[in-house]
Amino acid sequence: MDIVELNKLKDEAIASISAATDNDAVEAIRIKYLGRKGLLPALMKGMKDVEPSERAAMGIAANELKNAVIDGVARRKSELSATDEPKQAASFDYSLPGRWQRIGSMHPITMIIEEAIRIFGKLGFIVAEGPDVETAYNNFEALNTPAHHPSQDERDTFWLHTGELLRTQTSPVQIRTMKEQKPPVRIITPGRCYRRDTTDATHSANFHQIEGLYIESDRKVSLADLKSTMAYFAQEMMGDQVKVRFRPHFFPFTEPSVECDFTCHVCGGSGCRVCKQSGWIEIAGAGMVDPRVLERVGYDPEITSGFAFGMGIERIAMIKYGVNDIRLLYENDMRFLSQF
Ligand code: DAH
Repeated sequence: MDIVELNKLKDEAIASISAATDNDAVEAIRIKYLGRKGLLPALMKGMKDVEPSERAAMGIAANELKNAVIDGVARRKSELSATDEPKQAASFDYSLPGRWQRIGSMHPITMIIEEAIRIFGKLGFIVAEGPDVETAYNNFEALNTPAHHPSQDERDTFWLHTGELLRTQTSPVQIRTMKEQKPPVRIITPGRCYRRDTTDATHSANFHQIEGLYIESDRKVSLADLKSTMAYFAQEMMGDQVKVRFRPHFFPFTEPSVECDFTCHVCGGSGCRVCKQSGWIEIAGAGMVDPRVLERVGYDPEITSGFAFGMGIERIAMIKYGVNDIRLLYENDMRFLSQF
């Protein structure tokens, strides 16, 4: 190689670097000239064979080639990275469908609560809430459940050091609401309750109820009002064909009191495994609010009347979705939850 060829090689190098359109191409050129097995090291090795009279000039030209490649590569790389962003933005296709993001689903207990709020909302009921930590008065005494009643027993109720307790039912929200507002009252109260139950397939120390309370002072509310309300709820929640029946029962704060059953939505009432062959499923406790409860919250029982009901949310969720173990509702196992 002579000096003319060497200068030609330099021009070629400069031209190919400027023509490179991405970093990989620039890097390939750098390796071609400067790499361990590249053209320049080979050239340097061959210097010993060059005519001594030309050696100095060749050395200078080779050095110029090396510097031209080093400078050219650095400049081209910085030019390319400056134009990187606009290139990326331009290659983004706005017409592509969005990437699907996996979103969560509602917990079955929340689904029943939301559905109940929707159904009772259509009948004019609004949501009222109360605290999980209650006074013994609101949870028991105001509801005609005196201190000697078995449900106040330490084996059934979580008592706190303060003398308060974890509410065993949502019924105390009835008391809170009536103490605060005059009739008419139409509330439902979904929320957590606590009992010292040993956990098994149908029991949990922590569970949910929905309480309902309907009070009027300008007309006599009857058991028929209660029954039509429960029937409407039953059909909306479980299906049009579902019917309700009342059985006499006892609750301290209602008189008369009933147990409210729905016809089994699986067999339609003929008897199956879900309803244990009875055709009916027990859903709620209910009744006409006891005049002594009304009196205690400052209502006049002569002109005021109403009904109340309370039901377990887990029970409705289990029946509606065919869940056979209450513990599945609390384990947060994605394999279970993602089915809803
Ligand atoms: N609180 C009752 C329970 O936990 C359920 C209940 C029964 C609520 C009758 C009521 C009612 O409002 O009127 O067993």
